[in-house]
Amino acid sequence: MSSQLYKQKILILDFGSQYTQLIARRVREAQVYCEIHPFNLALEKIEAYAPKGIILSGGPASIYDADAPMLRREILEMRVPILGICYGMQSITFLLGGQVTRAEDREYGHATIDIQDDTDLFHGLGEQEGRMMVWMSHGDRIEAMPAGFTALAGSRNSPVAAMADPSRRIFGVQFHPEVVHTPDGTRLLKNFLYTICGCEPTWTMASFARRTIRSLRERIQDDRVICGLSGGVDSSVTAVLLHKAIGPQLSCIFVDNGLLRLNEAREVMELFGEHYGMDIHLVDASDHFLACLEGVTDPERKRKIIGREFIAVFEQKAKELGDARYLAQGTLYPDVIESVSFKGPSATIKSHHNVGGLPEQMNLELIEPLRELFKDEGRQVGVELGLPREMVMRQPFPGPGLAVRILGEVTRERLEIVRAADAIVIEEIRNAGLYEKVWQSFAVLLPVRTVGVMGDERTYEHVIAVRVVDSLDAMTADWSRIPYQVMGRISNRVINSVKGVNRVVYDISSKPPATIEWE
Ligand code: XMP
Repeated sequence: MSSQLYKQKILILDFGSQYTQLIARRVREAQVYCEIHPFNLALEKIEAYAPKGIILSGGPASIYDADAPMLRREILEMRVPILGICYGMQSITFLLGGQVTRAEDREYGHATIDIQDDTDLFHGLGEQEGRMMVWMSHGDRIEAMPAGFTALAGSRNSPVAAMADPSRRIFGVQFHPEVVHTPDGTRLLKNFLYTICGCEPTWTMASFARRTIRSLRERIQDDRVICGLSGGVDSSVTAVLLHKAIGPQLSCIFVDNGLLRLNEAREVMELFGEHYGMDIHLVDASDHFLACLEGVTDPERKRKIIGREFIAVFEQKAKELGDARYLAQGTLYPDVIESVSFKGPSATIKSHHNVGGLPEQMNLELIEPLRELFKDEGRQVGVELGLPREMVMRQPFPGPGLAVRILGEVTRERLEIVRAADAIVIEEIRNAGLYEKVWQSFAVLLPVRTVGVMGDERTYEHVIAVRVVDSLDAMTADWSRIPYQVMGRISNRVINSVKGVNRVVYDISSKPPATIEWE
């Protein structure tokens, strides 16, 4: 368990809800530090963490299921304010002798609740005649509250939509204040955090950066650190934090695998090498990667080869640099949660991307300064550290690079085509003011040729697919409804200036069932 650095902390116990991460994000947005841990976290660990308040998440189980995750009674006796959400509320009710029953229908969707008591949790809410719009998603409901509890709100389907035992400072809500469909949910959570738990909004990225730089210095002392730079925001912010902490004891390795975007290697070297004056080592391994990819068309094989070769090249360079004790990585909090969370639905969706295996193979200790942060918080740290906005707001780019955007074999000629088309897509999306609004925008080269006409000549050339998507977390995505004019400009420019392309199409698939990348 991390940070004893922060005084005011909230603990979120995860019962497997798909919304657990959202609870954490809302708490952080209220500028209060919090961590997610499994529902059965050892009591000593909870005590050591010393939370100012505990939030129990929802979950897919029924309290009567044989293998239902059970809340520990001792937690309710810790004299720490508690807020149970949905399943969390049902667990409290069940443990304290109230009655939970299966509702006739599962209640899912918008609902209106009537607020009966706006003393603390609902303070300032329900200005619309005591009503509040909320999002419900539950099967079971509270039939009888435990002794000492009173109802704070009710709805048609859930007579006890919220309850409290003010003397023990235990609260429960049947609905989900953490989702956007509960418009005033954030205010309710802030009431819990500020008024009930007594937290102050002090969790800012400026203070995070200061504290982290200090603690990195203390931990690393005189040792040396190696950091892999990818050009993406996470590794960039990691490197700059370390650079501020230990200066020349940090060496960065940037592997040019030949699958990067236009000018990417040069820009990274200029920013980190020249502007920041870091000790950065460019390894130009393009020929090697291209040779390994020759004749390979299967997407999974491409990914495996690139991952494997990356580790080999990186390791070799690190050895040459010698005697480092630590390896720094830009791991973010969502990856950490995946590995510690209770194995409910919130933990089942796995990311497939990160280059694993490096630290074990290299016998280095890991440093992950961003492991407590969500992506947008990481970006904010970048801003605090003075990284240029284009870098901080950069769209995600897959580790295997343009190789998964060239369907079929990766060749030099095809790389040039997709790279040139990609640069045009990005430029036009930027010019239209859309770059930071959409999740990703890029070009894909298809493994087919189509017939066209140029002057009086028949042509038979490549097709570029343009993919622009909106998303919040890449788990789901929808194709962006960008203006036709922007599509038109992209198409014209690509066909006119990228040699070998005579057709451009726009991808209108959502994820699921499609994915964002084509391979
Ligand atoms: P998919 O294609 O699975 O992609 O919908 C979801 C998000 O992940 C990015 N992506 C990757 N990122 N290494 C990465 O670092 C990878 O191998 C990789 N594959 C996909 C993709 O760009 C999208 O944002």
